[in-house]
Amino acid sequence: KALNSLLDWTVSQYKDLRIVCSWCLPVIQYLVEVLESVSPSELEDVIERVLDAVEKQPCKYNEVSLYSCSVLNAQSAVCNNVFNIIGAFDVPRYIYSVERKKFVPISMTSHPAPSLCGSAKDKAELFKERYTILQQRTHRHELFTPPAIGAAVEEGQNKFQLKTIEALLGSNAKLGEVIVLGMITQLKEGKFYLEDPSGTVQLDMSKFHNGLYTESCFVLAEGWYEDSVFHVSGFGFPPTEPSSATRAYYGNINFFGGPSTTSVKASSKLKQLEEDNEDAMFVIVSDVWLDSVEVMDKLNIMFSGYAAMPPTCFIFCGNFSSTPYGKTQIKSLKESLKALADAICSYPSIHSSSRFVFVPGPEDPGPATILPRPPLADHITEEFRQRVPFSVFTTNPCRVQYCSQEMVIIREDLVNKMCRNCVRLPNNNLDIPNHFVKTILSQGHLTPLPLYVSPVFWAYDYSLRVYPVPDVIVFADKYDPFSINNADCLCINPGSFPRSGFTFKVYYPSNRTVEDSKLQGL
Ligand SMILES: *[C@@H]1O[C@H](CO)[C@@H](O)[C@H](O)[C@H]1NC(C)=O
Ligand SMILES: *[C@@H]1O[C@H](CO)[C@@H](O)[C@H](O)[C@H]1NC(C)=O
Repeated sequence: KALNSLLDWTVSQYKDLRIVCSWCLPVIQYLVEVLESVSPSELEDVIERVLDAVEKQPCKYNEVSLYSCSVLNAQSAVCNNVFNIIGAFDVPRYIYSVERKKFVPISMTSHPAPSLCGSAKDKAELFKERYTILQQRTHRHELFTPPAIGAAVEEGQNKFQLKTIEALLGSNAKLGEVIVLGMITQLKEGKFYLEDPSGTVQLDMSKFHNGLYTESCFVLAEGWYEDSVFHVSGFGFPPTEPSSATRAYYGNINFFGGPSTTSVKASSKLKQLEEDNEDAMFVIVSDVWLDSVEVMDKLNIMFSGYAAMPPTCFIFCGNFSSTPYGKTQIKSLKESLKALADAICSYPSIHSSSRFVFVPGPEDPGPATILPRPPLADHITEEFRQRVPFSVFTTNPCRVQYCSQEMVIIREDLVNKMCRNCVRLPNNNLDIPNHFVKTILSQGHLTPLPLYVSPVFWAYDYSLRVYPVPDVIVFADKYDPFSINNADCLCINPGSFPRSGFTFKVYYPSNRTVEDSKLQGL
């Protein structure tokens, strides 16, 4: 209790969490040890005197770092919960229980622990789970909620009714216009079907709506059923909902992962810290080709520019090599990382205060391009991690939790993949980035594509969910940079650093804004 009240006081005094964590916390821990030996009757008096004394101390904190926070292995919940990198294999798994109408942690179900070589059952479950999650979300949407009991509703004035495919196939009477939630599949070349867990129906899509509708996407199809074919008159995505709406419904479950037992959104303390830390910033760079002299030059310019005000975190996405080196790839990557460590070490302020998160790209050394992709192997990164202790080599995709904010990062050229796999080619004037973001959020999944286009480890498909919607998604994509807000989620593409004239993005969590940055030539 004493620790908590001291911590509260310190936080309110210093605002900047780096100070609290790195030099106040050891002092506080020491104090608590001392205070434990003080008799309860004197306790308040002693604390009062300590606070008096602390207030009179001059405050010096030039050489502080967030790193000390983890070194201290602080007992404090606040400190542990400030900044966490969550690898895809550590994402908590919840199963939606249709009977109980809520999400249940996997440990409370009969599901086996996931494994990389999943079973056939995992594959069947994968699409069923994607469906169930969208179905519960769609059902809750005002378009589909049945009118309140007692409300005077005339026949035919009902809101839309969601039908299953089974109901469609089994109906003798003409149903008229109905809406069905299902997944687009192509069972035969050129013939599209709609599929849900209850069945499959052929689609007639002669009237077509523009958008990024790909095979394996879930859609709300409106139309009528006749002669064994579902004639589509309209297509739409299942409606998205901001994470506040999801939480209003399911409470403060921590779906995202990390040490906090409840959603970090429930913590007013973290929220306060986030708003007060105006200097916090995330520098996001993709295609960090460490073997390229030009890229290393630009990184040096970047570090020297930020040396006076080190960012909270650098997020570096792969590919970390500009060309495939074949057999010598690992050796050359080790050398490149050595050069990067040299560069970082020559800026002591950055070395001691900034964190580095490395997300591997499709062609970095590692297992085949199946998501989620494990981190770069320990033996490649070992020396670097020793020299730059605040570095984390993580999975692709990965998650970052900072104060009350949730961030998902994926390095994958998704935009072009989605366009190439559209059921119909999107027309030229389609605003591709906006449609792309809309598609991903409506699907609640990072790669809503057929498994042969974007393979995933079946049993880990849940780690690619973006439901509830996070605050930020970084799509590190070689497509042109963009920043788009949708459903209270900021979607950022930094673009390819070397291919787009050295552009990158800077995110400020305190005001939730993102800035475009570009390094000019020398
Ligand atoms: C957001 O905060 C950052 C850092 O304090 C500042 O540089 C930036 O101008 C702010 N942006 C807006 C739009 O207020
Ligand atoms: C990874 O880098 C290689 C070499 O430049 C390149 O050929 C490949 O397209 C890159 N992969 C992606 C997905 O950017």
